[in-house]
Amino acid sequence: MNELVESIRKLKEEKNALILAHYYQRGEIQDIADYVGDSLALAQWAAKTDADIIVMCGVHFMGETAKILSPDKKVLVPDMNAGCSLADSCPADRFERFVKEHPEYTVVSYVNTTAAVKAVTDVVVTSTNARQIVESFPEDEKIIFGPDQNLGNFINSVTGRNMLLWDGACHVHEKFSVEKIVELKAAHPEAVVLAHPECKGAVLRLADVVGSTAALLKYAVSHPEKTYIVATESGILHEMRKKCPNTEFIPAPPSDESCGCNECEFMRLNTLEKLYECLKNESPEIKVDPEIARKAVKPIQRMLEISERLKL
Ligand code: 13P
Repeated sequence: MNELVESIRKLKEEKNALILAHYYQRGEIQDIADYVGDSLALAQWAAKTDADIIVMCGVHFMGETAKILSPDKKVLVPDMNAGCSLADSCPADRFERFVKEHPEYTVVSYVNTTAAVKAVTDVVVTSTNARQIVESFPEDEKIIFGPDQNLGNFINSVTGRNMLLWDGACHVHEKFSVEKIVELKAAHPEAVVLAHPECKGAVLRLADVVGSTAALLKYAVSHPEKTYIVATESGILHEMRKKCPNTEFIPAPPSDESCGCNECEFMRLNTLEKLYECLKNESPEIKVDPEIARKAVKPIQRMLEISERLKL
């Protein structure tokens, strides 16, 4: 293992590569990355790096976003099969038809979408900035929000907006068991429930803090004396435990298993071995159709500009 880690580090230096990892990646991938962050931070780092190669340890749409923002760089993803159920729940042809049926609407899309969906979007958001970006529009602005219906419903509830929602969801966040979280709360009455807004409304109503992975981590780091029940993909626990070694973090369980954590099998496809191979071979490489990239870059840059203005 140490040898593999050393070889990856050497290759990274030789090739002037930057390794980015999402909080949902395997712990050993997070440990070797130059930066670990949420979807917004990954896009921000990808946009400003002067590395020649970006290795995106995450899922496909994250690699696409990096490539769109840095078209002259080589963007690699260790396993090209690392997809996203949420992005898959929003096929570009159907979404484009939906958008055309509502010409007076502004289109706000979650970053968990394909480049083709972003190409018919006015502004992209992540879970870190969705609320603020939606609130930056006048109150009577007609807005389509896609594809995550749970996040859309949450943003509607906290902003008082009535956005038209696409019927998409993340298969991991949909799976949390309300009953098991209630049982955990009864067993740990002092515990704070942290939940990602991709969770169903019934789970969010049990939560004390709702936020992006970065926001949930920040909350835990600033209150390390508490105990936490964590309702998001269990990869985040790696960084939480690293930053708060004396804090108890309990992963909220999914409904389809008797115990255990809720893992995204796509995020887990990236391994140290595949990371090494991908750096060595400079493959698999993310490619985005130039015409789609030309359209998709505008709503992503708009998101980055608003986020910078709001210091997010
Ligand atoms: P954030 O990275 O914005 O917390 O969202 C998590 C996610 O859905 C990654 O696919």
